[in-house]
Amino acid sequence: MSNLKVVILAAGKGKRMKSKLPKVLHPVCGVPMVQYVVDAAREVSPEKPLVVVGYKGEEVTGALGEQAEYFWQTEQLGTGHAVKIVCSGLGAFHGDLLVLYGDTPLVTAATLRELVARHQQEGAAVTLLSTEVEDPGGYGRVLRDSDQRVIGIVEDGQASSEEKAIKEVNTGIYCFRFSDLSEVLPELRAENVQGEYYLTDVVAILQKRGRKIEAVKAADSREILGPNDRKALTETERLLRQRILMRWMEEGVTFIDPATTYVDPRVKLGADTTVYPGTLLYGETVVGENCRLGPYTQITGSRIGNNCRIFFSVLDAVEIGDDVNIGPYANLRPGTVVEAQAKVGDFVELKNSHIGKGSKVPHLSYIGDSQVGSGVNIGAGTITCNYDGKAKHPTVIKDGAFIGSNTSLVAPVTIGEHALVGAGSTITKDIPGRALGIARAQQVIKENWRKQEKEKD
Ligand code: UD1
Ligand code: CA
Repeated sequence: MSNLKVVILAAGKGKRMKSKLPKVLHPVCGVPMVQYVVDAAREVSPEKPLVVVGYKGEEVTGALGEQAEYFWQTEQLGTGHAVKIVCSGLGAFHGDLLVLYGDTPLVTAATLRELVARHQQEGAAVTLLSTEVEDPGGYGRVLRDSDQRVIGIVEDGQASSEEKAIKEVNTGIYCFRFSDLSEVLPELRAENVQGEYYLTDVVAILQKRGRKIEAVKAADSREILGPNDRKALTETERLLRQRILMRWMEEGVTFIDPATTYVDPRVKLGADTTVYPGTLLYGETVVGENCRLGPYTQITGSRIGNNCRIFFSVLDAVEIGDDVNIGPYANLRPGTVVEAQAKVGDFVELKNSHIGKGSKVPHLSYIGDSQVGSGVNIGAGTITCNYDGKAKHPTVIKDGAFIGSNTSLVAPVTIGEHALVGAGSTITKDIPGRALGIARAQQVIKENWRKQEKEKD
């Protein structure tokens, strides 16, 4: 939108969170609150948002990095004081300033666009975003005159009992004409219980000067509420989760039980995928089409192909091809790649390993630092002994090899193409292609052994 700069206030501690982490960094669906506000800001203005940081500001700048420009408020003297710092830093600017609070993660770009559009059409000095809530406690109340014109905002702590009954509250989102705002900011006084400079007081000052004040009432109050404590944080998380699931349902994804399904905002899901109860999809996970995920599965930062079935399993930073079956009770750790049509079955742990096309690790195995070719069959209880107490060593199992059950492959070791390993072997030397390797004690038969024993008794 034209001639617009966006300011995000993120310097406060958030006392009511009772946390060492600054409030705006508290995660909602795995992402810090302020990140959502930055995302929405970037959708309405191509310029980097101007973020005011203060309390543990290095943590906030560390989390947002290059996405924003920063202003430092070393002492948190209130929202009015924070905006003043930005205004004096900007010098002359002939445009509008959209002010957002860093603790309103549910705000959408569509709402912000509507607010700015109304502000610019009306040529207002300030347009504020308000909303009606059943329980307005804690929020600033919007004051209107008998003609329903906005005349000011009164903070909860200052409100009379009559004002406290007002259900229209300030969301903390405003669009100011920069020149009007910087003209009246010096008039803010910190004469209130908190001893803070309230940005909200600007509205009454502008009104007294006869400047035009507009308000847009957000239809969905749940979109803009800023959680101040842990209870509200949980509620925010619930609402965001619902919103994320709704979006994927519109894209053709089925969730059997949305109440027990957790999908981070950066996850991508293909159509006709079904997600069963107790499934958690975190980070930047990408899932293809027609998959069945869960029940009770956690996938973090992974890529999953099409037509996969993954249930009762944990996957972290792995890559899975098409038509792969995983679970139940598989643990796939970072650096693992499983190619198309492979199977990883129950009680199997894979770490930093490559499983080739159509290979099977069906039960009770640990495969670490290994390159497994295609069409390999790994018998139950096979272990790659990749660690000698000092260093990790690789195992190579070439195409078509067959590893008998209960085998220990002591790395570094290579099993050749189509080689066969006898069950119960402890393999310490390379096995050539198509050879049989067997390394176990010879079986001894003692005829009539039990009979003799009996006679001794
Ligand atoms: C504020 C509004 C209130 C509104 C509510 C909506 C004021 C005075 N009150 O109250 O009308 O209903 O938000 O959620 O603005 N911050 C700074 N520097 C400071 C103080 C705060 O950057 O010195 C930042 C905080 O990090 C936070 C935001 O401003 O992101 C809002 O501060 P907070 O203390 O949460 O204000 P509320 O009491 O919720
Ligand atoms: Ca707040």
